[in-house]
Amino acid sequence: MPVQCYENVSKDVKKIIKIDTENTSYVIGVIDDEQFLGHIYYGAYLNDYHLAYALRIQENPFVPSQNNGERLSFLDSFSMEYPAHGLGDFREDCISIEMPNGSTGLSFSFVSLNILEEKPRLSGLPSTFGDKGECTCVEIVCEDVHTGLKVVLLYTAFEKADVITRSVRIVNAGKAPLYLTRVLSACLDMDDKEFEVLSLHGSWARERQIKRMPVGYGRYSVESLRGESSHQEHPFMALLTKGTNQEYGEVYAMHFVYSGNFKALVEKDQFDQIRMVMGIHPEDFKWKLESGCEFQAPEVVLVYSGEGLGKMTRAFHDFYRNHLIQGTYRDKERPVLINNWEATYFDFDKEKLIQIAKEAAQSGIEMLVMDDGWFGNRFDDKRALGDWYVNEEKLPGGLKALADEVNGLGMKLGIWFEPEMISPDSDLYRAHPDWAIAIPGREGSLCRNQYVLDLTQREVVDYVYGRISQILHSANIEYVKWDMNRQLSDIGSAYLPADQTGEIYHRYMLAVYELQERMLKEFPYLLLENCSGGGARFDPGMLYYSPQIWCSDDTDAIERLKIQEGTALIYPLSTMGAHVSACPNHTVGRSTPLETRGHVALAGTFGYELDVTKLSEKEKEMISLQIAVYHKYNELVRCGDYYRIASYCENHFYDCYGVVSKDKTEALYTFVQVLGRPNHRSRRIYLKGLAPEKKYRIEGEEEINTGDVLMKAGYLVQNMWGDFRSRLIHLTEV
Ligand code: GLA
Repeated sequence: MPVQCYENVSKDVKKIIKIDTENTSYVIGVIDDEQFLGHIYYGAYLNDYHLAYALRIQENPFVPSQNNGERLSFLDSFSMEYPAHGLGDFREDCISIEMPNGSTGLSFSFVSLNILEEKPRLSGLPSTFGDKGECTCVEIVCEDVHTGLKVVLLYTAFEKADVITRSVRIVNAGKAPLYLTRVLSACLDMDDKEFEVLSLHGSWARERQIKRMPVGYGRYSVESLRGESSHQEHPFMALLTKGTNQEYGEVYAMHFVYSGNFKALVEKDQFDQIRMVMGIHPEDFKWKLESGCEFQAPEVVLVYSGEGLGKMTRAFHDFYRNHLIQGTYRDKERPVLINNWEATYFDFDKEKLIQIAKEAAQSGIEMLVMDDGWFGNRFDDKRALGDWYVNEEKLPGGLKALADEVNGLGMKLGIWFEPEMISPDSDLYRAHPDWAIAIPGREGSLCRNQYVLDLTQREVVDYVYGRISQILHSANIEYVKWDMNRQLSDIGSAYLPADQTGEIYHRYMLAVYELQERMLKEFPYLLLENCSGGGARFDPGMLYYSPQIWCSDDTDAIERLKIQEGTALIYPLSTMGAHVSACPNHTVGRSTPLETRGHVALAGTFGYELDVTKLSEKEKEMISLQIAVYHKYNELVRCGDYYRIASYCENHFYDCYGVVSKDKTEALYTFVQVLGRPNHRSRRIYLKGLAPEKKYRIEGEEEINTGDVLMKAGYLVQNMWGDFRSRLIHLTEV
């Protein structure tokens, strides 16, 4: 049984709750007369539950029932499972409130425990799921007797996946309304093991770059207050024992299934104890909770690996592929698409698109995606967001005529949308200026010339959905790129009462989730690709709705090596929107061989973002070849196990990663020589993930080697002439 509860373990330890997956254990204790919920252990699987000693309650300052005169010292050092604010635990806490009398402190005692065989959906939020038999849940209810506030901590053990998820529901069982001013979703207290912290940072066109540093005393956080998970930081944090690499070392990772403001923080305290927390960012958050009402906080995914980062990566990949991503395309090869953005920007009409589609169809491209500019008066990025009516000047006959013609070429049609936004220069804004998020009476700050719609208003959500639905019904549209091109600011509402302004950020996210949910329910065949000025909302929340997300506006093959390495650290390759674009690259001005651009994009969903009508015959031939290669390897890339072999970010010369099929009969490694080096011999790379006893042939080569040899003695990659050159190394079992 993956969840066990042991009663009256000792005088002070009333309960031990042990949650197991195949290779990990998570242990919680209920202690003392006040029934404090303490964290005992998370890590490699334990075959016993006798761990009460790890709570250190026999040490000074002792539990409050024995030494209430040092209550503060107890609260400030005890490993809390869900630490509360204001009564003596001075470390980063998970929950705080504001009562009508202005007080903020609270303290929780265990009340009950409930084991569930099915994982409940988290109301209004994306969350992971599992069939009966795949996961077991335990709900632990605690109460603050003073206020009547209850916290319901939900843990789910996904046994085979080796993942534990956590979320929190807050119930106001008291008589008076109160305000929640902080509700984080997860906390992990442990002793320091000389940890390093790994997080992902970036900027527009430079998303998810891996950074590690030692954990020092004090608090270190990564966070977003931008109303989106953001380009700049990522809702992910991992603690690594010193020296952890792909194969060795312990990793404790947390990842947030949420797309809005977040905070992830690690703290090292006076006793060399570590606390790691994750949740909705408490700043600008204040939620009014009426008596009898509930607040559901989003889910955190916990992964522990005792075998380095590689094992963590593969655990996340499998988990997201099996327990987060949904829909018809989850397990299917995605159509090779051509997107007209970098080919035309706003300067297109039906004729131009059809020219592109005709040429693309001949190369084997399967879908035309019409990007920004097809609606209202949208001739540039200064206007018309919100006016979701087809611009018939550009598209005579509307979307139907375009779809029919594209379909006639044997291709699918997809379109771009940015439903959350409103341009001040739009018919929509002229009719409803109070539909934009703004501080009443203050002119809002523009970004990319646009405002954000106030999706906390029901009327606005329904209007936006009505437009999406009407557009999607109007023609055979089989793909949507859902974009979001600015951060939230100027938080205020003409609609919500003043004391609920602190709810806007989260209500906004709930509305976005509702819109995507409604759309996919009504159009279940749609392939949805989320996007946010490139990859500012590449997060597990969005992944619940869209099996792929646009990784970055930076399509340069070399920059993409870094972005895709950071992204693939947690996300399956099947989720990474990756396109081959024109050279010199529109973001960095670099020219790379078409072959290399193709090889790098193969690690993602694969598509094109260039004007195929302007290519030479040789380039067109190369594209047909690349598409054949995509079809040949996509199942392997989509479903296989990912191994990182070398990192260009670390060695500054070359990059290498591979995907191995689950049965280890096939593997594909990609090697990119970023910089050619003079007088250099062939490079030996040590392949990973193969079966030592199996014999493999490398495509195009005669020799047969065992997996053992290829992994231990390595494979020689011939030095290639010049910079930015690449090679695919394909192995099959013989
Ligand atoms: C964002 C996207 C791009 C493109 C433009 C259109 O920047 O990331 O791919 O769709 O918007 O305005």
